[in-house]
Amino acid sequence: MKAFSEKVRKHLNVGHEILYLTRDEVKSLEVPKEVLYEKVKQALTMYSNKETQMPPKSHIFPDENGCYISMPGLIPETGSVGHKWVSAYNNNVKEFGLASLSAMILVADYESGWPIAFMDGIHIMETRTPAIAAVIAKELARKDSEVFGMIGLGREGRNHFPVMPDALPNLKKILVWDISEEAMDNAIADFNDKVPVPMEKAPSLEYIVRNSDVLCSATFFKIYPPKPPIKKEWIPKGQTIIVTDLHTQFEGAIINESALYVVDSKSQQEDLVKEHYFYDEIKEPDCEVGDIFAGRHPGRTSDDDIIVASPQGMAIDDFAVTPSVIEMALEKGVGTILPL
Ligand SMILES: NC(=O)c1ccc[n+]([C@@H]2O[C@H](COP(=O)([O-])OP(=O)(O)OC[C@H]3O[C@@H](n4cnc5c(N)ncnc54)[C@H](O)[C@@H]3O)[C@@H](O)[C@H]2O)c1
Repeated sequence: MKAFSEKVRKHLNVGHEILYLTRDEVKSLEVPKEVLYEKVKQALTMYSNKETQMPPKSHIFPDENGCYISMPGLIPETGSVGHKWVSAYNNNVKEFGLASLSAMILVADYESGWPIAFMDGIHIMETRTPAIAAVIAKELARKDSEVFGMIGLGREGRNHFPVMPDALPNLKKILVWDISEEAMDNAIADFNDKVPVPMEKAPSLEYIVRNSDVLCSATFFKIYPPKPPIKKEWIPKGQTIIVTDLHTQFEGAIINESALYVVDSKSQQEDLVKEHYFYDEIKEPDCEVGDIFAGRHPGRTSDDDIIVASPQGMAIDDFAVTPSVIEMALEKGVGTILPL
């Protein structure tokens, strides 16, 4: 029996009980950053090694402003399996004062298939996604990268600030940009004292693009997206671009003329192309992030390379982290155990 299943059985009557964890409870169990980096790197590598099972995400659309995403995944090595259910509604903040993304995770027992936990998925998602950006930056960014630029300062974007300094040993400055002035002010007020380098508001989108060595974007994605505003001629030599929003801000030529275009899952990428998530026609990815971690692809080969990495997010990123959260919750008595 898998070690995780054994640990769960010490606290939970599997098949008869389920652990429920709220967002605050998941947050209170904070997985250490170093553990997060290791888990997501392992998951990306195992995925590209074909050691996991993960059917591509499936999307359903009530209309062009909303989308539901179904994300099952299984990691045999750790006995982690389950299903994440996400919704993305672009007008939520304006219409309901709610965040655009919601996410719940159902985790099953690897041995019997019975559900063992139902939990908030937002906290795991908003911390594992920037952790993925950080491990990619550590691997692919020029070693002399001094300026990190963050476009889009919502939940995902803001969570890049605690992790990016870990990936960039020569970091000297953080630039921020958002269409919302308030989001920029809040990001600087909330993080300036928590990061080891000064944070500055960029005066324009063009400025942040031209002046960042590592540039991340976490804005929005949607089916049939509008024309991307960032132009090829703004991109400096050697820039590492890491996006969690399907590069909706970057014109196709940036991707097509990059030295390396890398995604987390080529098969998910094929579906996204078919489903019209990209404004421009874009080239096929050169490889998966996991191919680079596994040593099958060299990654950056010159300081002049412009690299675009687009980790679109995979179910197994979450299921790499859920065992640590569940183990901690059961050991510390956090959460509510409910009858099935
Ligand atoms: N790849 C992954 O694994 C993964 C995981 C979770 C979320 N995401 C994606 O990350 C993105 C951000 O998610 P979030 O939860 O932080 O959303 P959010 O709504 O909390 O934040 C989005 C931020 O982007 C800003 N923004 C919107 N359009 C912009 C533009 N054109 N230029 C600059 N700023 C702009 C908004 O003002 C807001 O501050 C979404 O596209 C989401 O789908 C990806």
